[in-house]
Parts: sequence; C-alpha cells; structure tokens
Amino acid sequence: MTANQTDLKELLKKRLFDSISAQIDLIGYVPDDIAKLVKNFTFDRGNVGQMPDDAEYQAGSIQHGAAAVNNEPDKETLAELVNDHYDKVFYDYGGMMGILYGDTEFRNIGYWDETTVSQDQASERLLDALLDFIPEKSGKILDVACGMGASTHRLLNHYPSENIWAINISEKQIESTRRNAPGCNAQVMNAVDMKFENDFFDSILCIEAAMHFETRQKFIEESFRVLKTGGYLVLSDILCTSKERLAQLPMYHSPDNHIETVEEYYELLAGAGFSAIDITDKSRDVWGAHFLRAVNRIHERFYSGNINIIELTETLWTYYNANAVMGDCLFVSAQK
Ligand SMILES: C[S@@+](CC[C@H](N)C(=O)[O-])C[C@H]1O[C@@H](n2cnc3c(N)ncnc32)[C@H](O)[C@@H]1O
Repeated sequence: MTANQTDLKELLKKRLFDSISAQIDLIGYVPDDIAKLVKNFTFDRGNVGQMPDDAEYQAGSIQHGAAAVNNEPDKETLAELVNDHYDKVFYDYGGMMGILYGDTEFRNIGYWDETTVSQDQASERLLDALLDFIPEKSGKILDVACGMGASTHRLLNHYPSENIWAINISEKQIESTRRNAPGCNAQVMNAVDMKFENDFFDSILCIEAAMHFETRQKFIEESFRVLKTGGYLVLSDILCTSKERLAQLPMYHSPDNHIETVEEYYELLAGAGFSAIDITDKSRDVWGAHFLRAVNRIHERFYSGNINIIELTETLWTYYNANAVMGDCLFVSAQK
C-alpha cells in the first residue's frame, strides 16, 4: 500500500470512529433493551480508549443528553438547541439533506402511499391530509413551526395571503418563509408563547414540530386561547419511544414533553377544553415509509458511486438511531 493509501485508510477509520463515538456520546441513560445486548460483554478499556471513568460517571460529572453534546448545559435553551440543529441541517444541500430533500423545501418526513414518488409529493400529501380535517377553509389560519415555509406557500391554494400567519422559532427559517410565501404574515415566535390576542384564528396547523415544544401542553393551551370558538387545531406529531431516549437528543431535550400513549394525548386536548378530538396512528405511512425510502435511496447513491463508504455508514447510523427514537406518528384534529 502506498503512503497515500495508508493515510486514506487511517482517515476513513477516524471518520467512522468519530461518527460512532458521536452517537455513543448521546447516550446518557442506556435503555434496558440496549443494556441487555451488552450485559455479558466486558470492555477492554485499553482498546476502547475514551471510556469515562466509572466513579466520575456515577458522580454525575459526565453530562447527559444535550449537555453531553454541548458541554455548557446552563447556557443553552431548548430554542437555541433546536435552532442550532435545524438551521444547520435544513440548509445543508450538499449533504444527505440534498439527496433526500433536494426536490423540496418541506422539512418533514411526509405521508406516503404506493403512488408517492418523491419527498415533495409526500409532504404535500401530508399537508393536504391535515387540511382535510378543516371542513371550511376560510378565515384566518396559523402555520405553527412553519419550517422554511413550504406548507405556508401551499396554504395559498386555499387562503388569501393576508389571512395566513406563519411562526417559527428560527429567524433564518422565517426569512425563507417570507421568500417562499410572499404576502403572508411570517413572524419569529415561540409556539408555547404566542403573541396573538384571544379568539384570533379560525384554524391552526402544526406539522411535525410539537415533539420539540416545551411543552405540548402549553402549546395546546395557547392554541385553545388564540382559536375562535368552533375553530380547528390540526397537527401531525411524533411520540418518542421513551422519556429516556427523548432526553438523549439535544433538539428534543425536554423530557417533560414526553407523552407515552394516545390516551394521554387525548386527555391533554380534552383538559385544555377541546372537543371532537380525532387521533389516528399513521406510523406506517409516515416514518415507516420515509425510513424505508431513505435507506433505499442512500444505498442507491452508494452503489452508483455518488457517496462513499463513510457517508453511507454515517447516514445509516443516524437513520437507525432515529428509528429507535421514533414512536407513534399521529394525525390529530380537535375543535374549540
Ligand atoms: C421537523 S421541522 C418541521 C417544519 C415544517 N413544519 C415542515 O413541515 O416543513 C420542526 C420545526 O419546528 C420548529 N420549532 C421547534 N420548536 C419550536 C418552537 N418552540 N416554536 C416554534 N417553532 C419551533 C423548528 O425550527 C423546525 O422548523
């Protein structure tokens, strides 16, 4: 092997090691199912290299979850963590985002059936399915956590621009929304602390974002407050597989937001005053279909020579990690 070849091999090993280490660093609490897998395995510390000292770990000086990634837990709000994550990955067209989302500015996993051939179609289908819950598409509508504004743009098929509001916690994404949905009212605002007056909206839409909020309950209460009587809250949402897994991911780092069951979700809405509550499990056609397509697409790219073995491994690892976190994907509709 030439010197260059040896360097390259070392570089590949380092990239793979770093990728796997980054995922392991996220693990604060080790869920029981994973613990079982390693129960009979003893680490040779000399080879592992960066294992934390047990005493240090037990004493809590090794930080968990978001803290493990950022090292400065007290200085980071959930909003900053969310923005750090999404403002980076949403605009990374050169990486996997380009391969999986290159045809769209939607930033959700979509709603798929056997006729859906692209992410853009799947995301449009998701929005249309949610809008079907609103019998009369008139009056004012709010797009909560609008991402880059693709959903806000599509609302223009049903509503005049002056009747569409869009909010997001990220300034950068709101700038994209203003570009994608000209004339609509796009503002930087936290979904759990809305600056609108009571009884202002006829409908509220929220696509794939409530799992980030601190908390869903506050968001649901705020939605109830700003909706007119008879108005609809419609959303697609994802429940996490466990509270512990939720706490491991920086941009979901609000364990208080964990909901275990559909029944709990129902109670949350009813408790805030909502009626005509409809919650449907769409996991198979949302995350399930997106995951299979993504894994296929990534392999296609690899076998056609567009990505290398490192990119293949890093991306698959990320996707399988996400797969362990994704619980039920729900469509939710409720009326004030
Ligand atoms: C998975 S993306 C979905 C984006 C968009 N709804 C779409 O379908 O393209 C989640 C979005 O939630 C936004 N977000 C997270 N927490 C938020 C909060 N507390 N208030 C407003 N937006 C928030 C993020 O900035 C991000 O745009």
